[in-house]
Parts: sequence; structure tokens; C-alpha cells
Amino acid sequence: MCGIIGFVGKEPAAPILLDGLARMEYRGYDSAGVAVRSETAGLQIRKTKGRLQVLSDLIHGGADLDGSLGIGHTRWATHGEPNDINAHPHVSENGRIALVHNGIIENYMELKEHLMRQGVHFTSDTDTEVVAQLLEFHYNECHNMLEAVGRCLRRIEGSYAFGIICADYPNALIAARKDSPLIIGYGKNGNFIASDVTAIIKYTRDVAYMDDGEIAVLTADSVDVFDDEMSPVEKAHSTIDWDVSAAEKGGYAHFMAKEIMEQPEAIRKTVSPRIRDGRVVLDDLHLPEEYVRGLSRIFVIACGSSYHVGVVSKYIWEKLLRRPVEVVLASEFRYSDPLVDERTLVIVISQSGETLDTMAAMREAKRRGGRTLAIVNVVGSSIAREADDVLYTWAGPEIAVATTKAYSTQLVLMDLVGLYLAEKLGTVAEDEYEAILSEMQLLPDKMQRFLDHTEDIQYFASRYFNHGSVFFIGRNLDYAMGLEGSLKLKEISYIHSEAYASGELKHGTISLIESGTLVVALGTYAPLFDKAMSNVVEVKARGAEVLALTTEDFREKMEKTADATIAVPVTHPLLQPSLGVVPLQLFAYYVALQRGCDIDKPRNLAKSVTVE
Ligand code: G6P
Repeated sequence: MCGIIGFVGKEPAAPILLDGLARMEYRGYDSAGVAVRSETAGLQIRKTKGRLQVLSDLIHGGADLDGSLGIGHTRWATHGEPNDINAHPHVSENGRIALVHNGIIENYMELKEHLMRQGVHFTSDTDTEVVAQLLEFHYNECHNMLEAVGRCLRRIEGSYAFGIICADYPNALIAARKDSPLIIGYGKNGNFIASDVTAIIKYTRDVAYMDDGEIAVLTADSVDVFDDEMSPVEKAHSTIDWDVSAAEKGGYAHFMAKEIMEQPEAIRKTVSPRIRDGRVVLDDLHLPEEYVRGLSRIFVIACGSSYHVGVVSKYIWEKLLRRPVEVVLASEFRYSDPLVDERTLVIVISQSGETLDTMAAMREAKRRGGRTLAIVNVVGSSIAREADDVLYTWAGPEIAVATTKAYSTQLVLMDLVGLYLAEKLGTVAEDEYEAILSEMQLLPDKMQRFLDHTEDIQYFASRYFNHGSVFFIGRNLDYAMGLEGSLKLKEISYIHSEAYASGELKHGTISLIESGTLVVALGTYAPLFDKAMSNVVEVKARGAEVLALTTEDFREKMEKTADATIAVPVTHPLLQPSLGVVPLQLFAYYVALQRGCDIDKPRNLAKSVTVE
């Protein structure tokens, strides 16, 4: 949510800032801006409403701005509508301090009123401008930028990652962080700050993750980091081991298409290293045997698609572990006075590892004595670092706002952890354990086989893309999978869609089914296939147009009743959602394509939601 970048070095900053912002546009894309300091022109600010391309055109790819110190921002509006004035960077009244911000300043009104009483004039509606003005106020008091930043941070409440430049410090970039991600990149020709490594991987793989409360001062050839008491901090460096091409489209029209196609490989990478001699081996999990045996309940907390992974996992884990598993939206969990104690395991699922509600829920769970295990994709992210244990999904960078490969890898990793715990608890029969594990290793090939022929889904998308409203129905694992299918469709195609537990249809929703209503009927869970069929018959009798999803062995039966049928390869029933979700992702993708939507950057959304 909002992407920030900063560079100080021996090369022109503007093209580097634009390039980095382009790689982070998924974080926000309603406006963008840069501030570059030049010898002759001082602080040059260019910002505009709209996509990054508008800014890039405005400054001719950066050629208009000389100078090798700068900051940049791509915005997802929270305070103040997306327009030129509210776009970042924000500049203090005397024009000498510029800053970019990701996060929310919660006490900004109070600070703004205070500054206005001192005669400060504001131009924007944002919370961020308050910080620019407050910085000037403190700088005028102490005439030392670092000290002014420290004083300012002590007064603001909320979350932030800041990139700051000041005309009086022509060689320094200052950064600060609390509850919003910020990394430092150490390059040959200069140093960087960025919200995400994808922004700077082209220039350096040598990074350090800033911690809450830290302030960094970067010059072309030095980086000094201080804690909140201004004591120097020695930062541990990490090396990013993936290649820049992993964050590029590689010939696909959209990142989403590429990421859907990458799923077999992402699953292989996530699963293979964790299976040895026919057993699940989780080297990074440090749950004492005694703790596992004493477990009383399990919570899964997450947001969005990660929450949907939790819903699927609940069905699977309760079968395997015979322990109660409660799946709660992180935004609800944090204020629900949750029943967590020392015998509670809290699983936190997050692709980005930065979702604010998920992080806050995790902290609440820890505060109450629960043990936290995070399932995260982004290495070194805040959630990964704060959880008691972390297991990484190895999906690689995911750029499209609508998640696909992260969802799939989260799901298989949850399957693995479920099996692992079930073995420890002795709640899974050996033959069942072996059957699931061997099928799990076959998933990538089966998924690939399906992905090799997606023509029928393209055809169905062209048949149905004009529908205004869609219902996804299914039972048990099919219902859980339908939640994700429905979300995918609505987020990228803007078609209203809802997922319903089929058995619940009769209690109200069936009144909405009329001639021609599109119903996506999910019947991949073999134990309940007959029930799924009855629901298809039921909605057909009310005039629905039914697009059914089932497995290859039930295709023939389904085709007799449904108007259109998609079939995925058969696997173990508990793993079937891993294959079933793929056609739902593709259906959403092709429908959105037909409708001419901006697939990778759907309106109003951002990939990493770092505000409440
Ligand atoms: C945003 C994204 C979703 C994602 C959700 C949770 O809404 O658009 O794709 O599922 O955040 O994000 P997380 O990074 O915590 O998994």
C-alpha cells in the first residue's frame, strides 16, 4: 500500500526512481511523484494523479530532472482523494524538505491544528504533509536534520516508512520506519531505500531490513542506522537470491497470467524440500513435542485470499488433527477479545508478511500467550520476523494484485503442516498419510497437464463475460474453494459474485436465481459429488445457466446436467482444491480480459494492505 523508493549515489536518480516505482506499482497506482535534488535547481518536485506512466511522460523518463539524490512514491490514497496536490512527495512550507510516506499518521489532525496555530499553511488533505511541516518546525528549532527527524518521530502516532531529503543536506537521504516495510539496498554506485526488494533488485542484491523505530542516513558511499534513542545499530545484511527476471512479465500479457502458469513450479519448490524419505520434515518449525500434544485449539488468522486458504485448511486440519480449528479474519480477530492461551497455536497466513491487520492480530495473539506460526512468502517481512516460527512459501515474487501462486503455495504448505502435526498427534492413519503425501508430490505434474489446455476456459469466458452477477456454489472443500474463485472474479472483472454453501441456497439466495443467472457449480470433492449434482439440478430447474467444475472421473455425469463443464485431474480428495482453484483463477482472468479490465492493477485495490 503505497510504494516508496529513495536513491543517493553517483548516477542520475530520476530514471532509477521511475524504474523502481514501476516495479512497485502493484502497491498503489492512483498517483505518483518524485523529488530530485539538483546542484542548480535545488529540490525539484514532480507529481501527478494517475498511473506512473503519466509521471514518466511528464518528466521524459526522468531526463528532465538532473541530480543523484531523490525519493519517489506511488500512492494508494487513504487521506485525501487521489489528485496532483495530495500526491507525494510532500514539501514543507519553505520548500526545503521533501518526503514520501507509506502508512498512516493517526494523530495528524491534532498535529495539523497545532501547526496551523503557529501560522503554518497546508496545501493538501493528507496526513503526510503534516510530517513535512512538522519536520520544518523542528529543523528550525535545532538546525540538525537528524535531530529534527528524531523529534518529529517522537510526536507522531501511527505507521510509517519515510524517505526524506532536505535542500541543506545535498548528499543525504534519511529513512525511518515503524509498522510499514522498508529495506536498505547497498549498491556499487549508490545506496537505496525501498518498500520492496523488487524495486532495487536490478541494482543490488545486498539488503538490510529496517526494524521498527530505526532511522537510517544514507549517502552515496555510507549507510548509518540508529535506533529510537539515536544509538548506532549494526545491521545484518541479507542477499536476495532470486533473479530480476522473476519480477518481470517474461512474454506474458499480464503478471497474473504468468503467475498462474508458474504455479506447478512454485508448488514443487514449496513442497519438495520438505519431504524426505516419505515423511514431512519441517526443519524451521520448532514446536516442542509436548506443546503439540497439549494443544487445545488452533486459530488461523489472515486477510483476503490468505484467509480463504485458512477456510480450506480448516476442513483439512480438523479431519487430520481432530482438534478445533477456528479461521478468523485478522481485522475481526484483533478486536474480538480472542480466547487465546498458552495451549493455543495461532497460524498467521500472509503473502506479503506486511498486512497491517494480520500483523496486529498476531501481536494480540502473542500478547495473550499464544504461540504463533507464520506462513509467509516475502522473506524478511515484518510478520516473518515477529512470529515465533516462520515457514516460507517459495512462490517467488508475486506482482499481480490478485494473488494466484501465493494462494496455491500457502495451501500446500498448510497441508504439509497439517500432516506433520497429525503425525505428531497420532491422529492420521499411516496409509492416509502416505496417500496424501504421494499425491502431493504429483500435484505439480497434474496441474501442468491441466494448464497445457485451457482453451475451453477461454471459450466459456467468452460465453459468459457479459453476466452481471454470478454465484459460486459448493459444499465443504468446494465451498471453501468457491470463496476464492468468487473473489478472483469480482476483484479483477468487477462482476458482482458471491460464494455460497450449496446447502444454504434454499435459505434465501435461491430467490435470486432466475432465467439465465450464471451459477458456477463446484463438484470436485468426491465424497459429496452426488449432493453437488442435486444442487445443480435445483438451480437448473429455476432457469440458471450452470458452468460446472468437477474432476475427470465425474465429467461425464456432470455434462449430462450442466450447460458447460470443466474437469480437473483427480487427486486425493483433501488436495482437490489445489487443482480446482486453477480453472477458477483462469476463468476470472479470461473474463476480465474479455471485459478489457486492467487485470494486474484492478481499481481501488493494492497488493499489500498496510493500513487498517
Ligand atoms: C490484499 C491482496 C490480496 C491478499 C490480501 C492479504 O487484499 O490484494 O490478494 O490476499 O491483501 O494479503 P497478504 O499479503 O497478507 O496475504
